Amino acid sequence: MKKITANELRKMYLKFFESKGHKIIPSASLIPENDPSVLFTTAGMHPLVPYLLGEKHPAGTRLTDAQKCVRTGDIDEVGDLSHLTFFEMLGNWSLGDYFKEDAIKFSFEFLTSPEYLAIPIEKLAVTVFAGDEDAPRDEESAKIWADCGIPEDKIFYLPKSNNWWIAGKTGPCGPDTEMFIDRGTEKCSEDCSPACDCGKYLEIWNDVFMQFYKNEDGTYSMLKQKNVDTGMGLERTLCILNGVKSVYDTELFASSKAKIEELTGKKYDESEDTTKAFRIILDHVRTATFLIGDTRGIVPSNVDQGYVLRRLIRRAVRFGRNIDLPSGSLKFIAECYIELYQEAYPELLENKAKILDELQKEEERFTKTLSDGLKEFNKVITHIQGTVFPGKTAFRLYDTYGFPLEITKELALEKGFTVDEEGYNKAFEEHQKKSSVGSEQKFKGGLADTSEQTARLHTATHLMQAALKKVLSETVSQKGSNITVERLRFDFNFDRPMTKEEIAEVERLVNEAIKADVEIVMEEMTVEQAKNSGAVGVFDAKYGDLVKVYTMGEYSKEICGGPHAKRTGELGTFKIKKEQSSSAGVRRIKAVLE
Ligand code: ALA
Repeated sequence: MKKITANELRKMYLKFFESKGHKIIPSASLIPENDPSVLFTTAGMHPLVPYLLGEKHPAGTRLTDAQKCVRTGDIDEVGDLSHLTFFEMLGNWSLGDYFKEDAIKFSFEFLTSPEYLAIPIEKLAVTVFAGDEDAPRDEESAKIWADCGIPEDKIFYLPKSNNWWIAGKTGPCGPDTEMFIDRGTEKCSEDCSPACDCGKYLEIWNDVFMQFYKNEDGTYSMLKQKNVDTGMGLERTLCILNGVKSVYDTELFASSKAKIEELTGKKYDESEDTTKAFRIILDHVRTATFLIGDTRGIVPSNVDQGYVLRRLIRRAVRFGRNIDLPSGSLKFIAECYIELYQEAYPELLENKAKILDELQKEEERFTKTLSDGLKEFNKVITHIQGTVFPGKTAFRLYDTYGFPLEITKELALEKGFTVDEEGYNKAFEEHQKKSSVGSEQKFKGGLADTSEQTARLHTATHLMQAALKKVLSETVSQKGSNITVERLRFDFNFDRPMTKEEIAEVERLVNEAIKADVEIVMEEMTVEQAKNSGAVGVFDAKYGDLVKVYTMGEYSKEICGGPHAKRTGELGTFKIKKEQSSSAGVRRIKAVLE
């Protein structure tokens, strides 16, 4: 097997697939753009879902990339040999182009050819889908592997729990074939196979044959096209190829590890606890660096992605204490990663100042309260009868000392206690109720927010919808809208990206209406009258109900709750910032008034 660096492996993979007619596409953002159902991009296929479902990809039907991924489901396992919350996934895709035969042959060539990874055939083992009521036994893939030279006793048939891939509960999916390195150790039992975790087999790559869609009701439909989605974990592959014990012993962590040793005066492998603390810090700081430094970068907060980021940073700080990592160290560790990854992910270098600053600020915020919080924790725990840590106290640790619940749970577990999570949630809700008057005001936004700027953006949305109907098609209508003080966001049905010219024309029409400085007139009428007047909008009011119709000269007439500007002239200059896909057949525009 070839000893190889991360940069070499990444380049070699992409070049190989380029030589097989694939277009190299850049990694998508770690923060999914059009999918509110997940917090992070968790696999290479994630940003490609619309194309797996049949939308045309501008780069064609054969694609390859190295995709940044974050998975925090196993965050508690970080510290062992292989778990990471950030990883890179190397992938190649066929979007209705080649299928099983070429996919497997490409994988086999890349793994075994002396020009590429040069893995001896006798070290390989593969698994294929054993078949069930949803899809047949995958004899086809097994035969292709056998034709490549994989002996029959190294081809294992496994059930859906092992050889079927789906991201989440519903969506595109299918049987897969997985490739493993057989480390040559003894079988752990008669039935030893890649399905068991005795360590004989290490997974290196997964080829998914996506031709199904799993529906909400659990049934499967056929997709429009047969796709291939593959994923090779870069860190794990590096670890295997270079014959090192854990992913943390690969070159990816060499400089950051040395930095922690320098900062703490401790050695990585001094003791089990030290190694664990090192690994947690190495992992969490790397993930935080990529999350803050992403093209759609985030900052620590108490909700959604920001909360996960906060947990990662605070957990790193907490474990840092165990090895005497001085306060303010995280930014120095982050610098090692920025240096290492700047060629493959230039956004890290571009956002360097922001990354270092956010890490520093979050570390300072938590360090201030960490000692007091730990003191409080230790005091409380000595007085508890039984083994249940009260939820109310866990909430106090969160509210007063900034301890994410997960940290309290971990600390409690170390002492043999479990946290009463129900009690925690109750305390949380009570607290929210008390402070809801303030937050209601703050978070209302949208229609209830009557600030002048949102009213203007609201008016601009009407003008834009009218312009879209003129430029694109009368059938265009609103599928969703969201307005903040900074921008409007508007979703509408349309089945292809808009051209530059169309975008410019919509901008021109809206700005023309603004220049005309017409008065915005509101009239109340029944829903039938509104319909007859030619107003657009959602006619879901009951018969006889009064609705408000806003008329903007010749430009727009729409049913709406308001509020709006008084005259179009108040709006400023209208500009479309982004036009992108929102979901199948739906486009999304983000626009501003400057
Ligand atoms: N989507 C497949 C995976 O993540 C390739 O394993």
